[in-house]
Amino acid sequence: MIKHVLSQVLVLVGMVGSLHSWPVMPGQQILREELTNTDIALKCGKHEQLVMDHTEMITLTAGDITKNNLYNASCDVTIRVALRSSATALEKYGMKVEGLISFRDGSRDCTNSFISVADEDTLDDEMGTLVKYCGGPNKKISFETTEDYINIEVSVGSERATRGSGFTITIEPHFVCGGIIALETTIESPYYPQPYPRDISCFWEVKAPKGFDISLTCPVFQFPNPNKAGRCSDDLMINHANDVDVYCGSQLLNKQKHFAGEHEMLLVFRSDESKNVKNKGISCNITFVPE
Ligand SMILES: *[C@@H]1O[C@H](CO)[C@@H](O)[C@H](O)[C@H]1NC(C)=O
Ligand SMILES: *[C@@H]1O[C@H](CO)[C@@H](O)[C@H](O)[C@H]1NC(C)=O
Repeated sequence: MIKHVLSQVLVLVGMVGSLHSWPVMPGQQILREELTNTDIALKCGKHEQLVMDHTEMITLTAGDITKNNLYNASCDVTIRVALRSSATALEKYGMKVEGLISFRDGSRDCTNSFISVADEDTLDDEMGTLVKYCGGPNKKISFETTEDYINIEVSVGSERATRGSGFTITIEPHFVCGGIIALETTIESPYYPQPYPRDISCFWEVKAPKGFDISLTCPVFQFPNPNKAGRCSDDLMINHANDVDVYCGSQLLNKQKHFAGEHEMLLVFRSDESKNVKNKGISCNITFVPE
C-alpha cells in the first residue's frame, strides 16, 4: 500500500471570532499538485466531505488549541471521509483511524469537548459505533470499521476549559475481503482467525484457467447451524452453473468440493445482523484441477 499524506487540517489561530477557521492545506510537497483543488477552509459549523482512494492515507492535524484562547467559544466541525468506489468493487475495504490527542475539557466523560469517530450516519443507526475521545496529553485514538466511510467530529464546548496541544489523526483504508481469484489461493472470512463481523458480505469471483476445473476445500468452516427450517443466518453461498448452494454450520468442513467442468463461480460470504456471533467463518483453499 502506498502511503502518503493527503491533506492536513490546521487550526488557524486568531484573536477575532471570525477566525475560527480550519483550512485544509496541502500536505507533503509530492502531493501539492494533486491537492490544488482540495484546499478547503473548515469553519466552525462546517461539514466537510473528503474522498480517498484505497491506496491513500489522510492525516488530519490541528495545532495548539491553547494559543490565544482560540477555543473559548462553541465550535463544531464534522469531516466525513469516504472511499472512492472503485472498479474492483469486489474487494471490500474498511477504514482505520488512529491518532493522538491532547484535548482536555475539564470533564472526564468528554461531555464538553471531544473528538468523535463514528461509522454511523444517524444517531439511530443501530449497526454503527460512535466513540468519543478527549483527554491527554497524547491519548490514543484507535478505531476500525468494515464500513468504507468514517465520520469525525471535532467539538469544542461552551465551557472555557478546553486545553491541549491539539491532535493528529490518520485515516487509512484496510483490506477486508473479496476479490477476483485467478490463481490457486486461500480465501478467508474478514478478520480470520478472529470471529467475523456481523452484517457483512464478501464476494470472490473465481476464474480457473482454460482446461482446469475449480476445486474447493475448507479446513476451517464455522458458522451457526441452520435453524429447523434449514435456513442459515450466516453462510457461504456458491453461485455456479445456474445453481446456488448455501452452506452453514460445519457443512463444508474438510469436504472437498470438485466442480467438474466448471471454470467460473461466485463465492459469497454472508453474516447477518445478529450480535454475539463468535464463529471464525471460513478458510478455504481454491485449487484448479486439470479437466
Ligand atoms: C477567550 O477568552 C479570553 C478571556 O475571557 C479573552 O481574552 C479572549 O479574547 C477570548 N478569545 C476569543 C477568540 O474569543
Ligand atoms: C490449504 O492451503 C494451506 C495454505 O496454502 C495449506 O497449508 C493446507 O495444507 C491446505 N489444506 C488443504 C486441505 O488443502
